[in-house]
Amino acid sequence: MYWLGLDIGTGGSRALLVNGEGEVRFGFTAAHEEMRMEHPLWAEQRPENWWDAARHAIHGVLAEAGAKGADVKGVGLSGQMHGLTILDERNQVIRPALIWCDQRSQEQVDWINRTAGAEAVLASIANPMLTGFTLPKLLWVRDHEPASFERVRHLLLPKDYIRFKLTGEHASEVSDASGTGLFDVVNRRWAAGLASKVGIDPAILPRVHESQEVTGVISAPAAEATGLAPGTPVVGGGGDQAASAVGNGIVEGGVASCTLGTSGVVFAHLDQPVYDPQGRVHTFCHAVPAKWHVMGVTQGAGLSLQWFRNQLVPGTGYDRLTEEAATAPAGSQGLYWLPYLMGERTPHLDAMARGGWIGLTAKHGRADMIRALIEGVSYSQKDCLALIDAMGVLVDRVRLSGGGARSAFWRQILADVFSRPVSILASQEGSAYGAALLAMVGTSAYGSVPEACAATIRETESLTPRSAESEAYAKSYRVFTSLYPALKSVFREM
Ligand code: XUL
Repeated sequence: MYWLGLDIGTGGSRALLVNGEGEVRFGFTAAHEEMRMEHPLWAEQRPENWWDAARHAIHGVLAEAGAKGADVKGVGLSGQMHGLTILDERNQVIRPALIWCDQRSQEQVDWINRTAGAEAVLASIANPMLTGFTLPKLLWVRDHEPASFERVRHLLLPKDYIRFKLTGEHASEVSDASGTGLFDVVNRRWAAGLASKVGIDPAILPRVHESQEVTGVISAPAAEATGLAPGTPVVGGGGDQAASAVGNGIVEGGVASCTLGTSGVVFAHLDQPVYDPQGRVHTFCHAVPAKWHVMGVTQGAGLSLQWFRNQLVPGTGYDRLTEEAATAPAGSQGLYWLPYLMGERTPHLDAMARGGWIGLTAKHGRADMIRALIEGVSYSQKDCLALIDAMGVLVDRVRLSGGGARSAFWRQILADVFSRPVSILASQEGSAYGAALLAMVGTSAYGSVPEACAATIRETESLTPRSAESEAYAKSYRVFTSLYPALKSVFREM
């Protein structure tokens, strides 16, 4: 007996089979096409490609396990958040999705604030409107591709498009809906008033569930396409961050997670929705009923390393890069990296922010450059943690996950930079695992999400901050935080 977690990420779709004890047994990833970046700050992917990859991943994991569709008792979905997926009246994809890191919609954000009032936006969605959110992306299509906009009958998020392909239902769940800019996060329902103020017909919005609720079942055509059995329940699941938090057991106070994928996210649980009025961190619904979360996002976390690798040392493994970085001294001899390759969310909320090394001298070598890159991403994650601290949310330890957490070298840097113990977990599967646990709760294998987490999640390694390094990083962090303000107006000139 298995439960399937399916994560529609940026780089690929991952299918995971978890057994009745909540243990990960098999995993299969199918890569996505590279995101298309026709202009700086644009980022698009084709939803049809997500579906191809999802089918491939499901077939792959079933084959690996030697399992039949009927062995799978439930399916949970997670996925990259915020992506604008629009369908016409025949449920055909109208245009490629503008994905989470697409930053083209500042004009539309300004328009929403003028039209609805920035205060009213904050009151409606518990966050200010941001270029990353789905609504301004939809309004960009309205402003630049009116013929496409006219045809929009359904707005879905990336994983919810896959849900539609699997079940035929237009449905979402609270954690992912929170990132649309159209969701009343406090009351866990669509912000119908805001939608009508900005001229969006609420009929295009999917039905919203709590994350563990069954949203539909595998249809006959989807069974044919995937190898799953018709009638298998599909639960809401979560946006990748909320699902990853379930997979990391961040379903109570005190412990936060830091997930280093393409983006880097610091995530903490909330019993009540508290928010930063400047919106530098997001307050969204958690994948746990009647709970919320706060998260800060570094847009270019793993992306920084990926960019460096692809552009400067193609074909080199990430392990080789971190080994080389470890040969440079802590602090990278005064070299700093600004990870703003896709603008920045936390703490600057600035689509115009730009990346780069600052402080290069002729004595710096490649090892310093790579180490600075890892340290810069870590400082940027500390920016997120510092804002969460400042909101009065207690975080006394951090669980690491995502590709960046695979490096022991980077883990120790994070412990030192955060000045807090960090740990890793027995399951490093994050979002897909959280999605599978949500499927287990939705099909009554566990009574609740916290119960599922308590039964399954185990820390395997814990690292404490080293005092000399922590002190040195605290000094360097002060320098790091002074760089963006000094350059902000220059980024605009650029
Ligand atoms: C969260 C966010 C990213 C994406 C891609 O707000 O934008 O986590 O979901 O991973």
